[in-house]
Amino acid sequence: MFFMFDTLEGYIQPGTVEADLVQQIDFSRLPVHLAIIMDGNGRWARQRNLPRTEGHKAGSESVKEVVEASARLGIKYLTLYAFSRENWKRPRDEVNTLWGLLKKYLAEESKVLLENDLKLKVIGERSGIPYLVRRELARVERLTRNNKRMTVVLALNYGGRQEILRAIKMMLRRKSRIDEIDENLFSRYLDTAGLPDPDLLIRTSGEMRLSNFLLWQCAYTELWVTPVLWPDFRRKDLLQAIVDYQKRERRFGGIEVAANSNRS
Ligand code: FPP
Repeated sequence: MFFMFDTLEGYIQPGTVEADLVQQIDFSRLPVHLAIIMDGNGRWARQRNLPRTEGHKAGSESVKEVVEASARLGIKYLTLYAFSRENWKRPRDEVNTLWGLLKKYLAEESKVLLENDLKLKVIGERSGIPYLVRRELARVERLTRNNKRMTVVLALNYGGRQEILRAIKMMLRRKSRIDEIDENLFSRYLDTAGLPDPDLLIRTSGEMRLSNFLLWQCAYTELWVTPVLWPDFRRKDLLQAIVDYQKRERRFGGIEVAANSNRS
């Protein structure tokens, strides 16, 4: 389906739970960078006596909904943990389904990304991504490279520890002076170079773990965990996460009330 994302008008119906949540949001203090660990696809399928792959298919629909809702809300960066380094341990059939779904998503949604001024960026170890998916990713990244409204970051074949090690190796190859190394310089060697750190990290399905996701970048990120399984995650859940985030006090290790200002 092809459509233009506009603002929230016409997207959120008056008198609904969503409308009530939107009322509570202060749009001047939105999280700039929202990251999501999309978990629970397998459990969602098991609850319905379906193969796990059906859970991933349903999860793709949640991805579309969250991309649209985030863009309409005015989120600037949305990072989705779509395939971890550890996911290779799953049965071959499931691994193939995941990459197949991603390829389908790119084929179907590249026009939506382009027309809605959304930029695609990939983080993770690119060389390990199946060739045809890699080629499609490169095509969509090229196509959307000048877009400004929101950046959709897909973490693919991604692991936080591996990203840190790759960054260290690259930095040492290029910089020999130890005293030049600081947090700023190091960040420039990470896959996320140029992106602000996430303000809010959502994890679905109730697990309280980072699972090797954005380990360096999440140092001061607010975590929000919901028992909702990813295929059931809808825009109202996203709105609730933002409302709750705005009630928190971010101190970045200090003592002053930071009025939940975005640091970046
Ligand atoms: C975790 O659920 C989810 C994943 C490993 C993959 C996420 C992938 C998608 C949502 C679909 C394709 C992505 C895009 C960007 C179109 P799980 O299988 O670990 O669930 P479980 O813990 O209940 O078993």
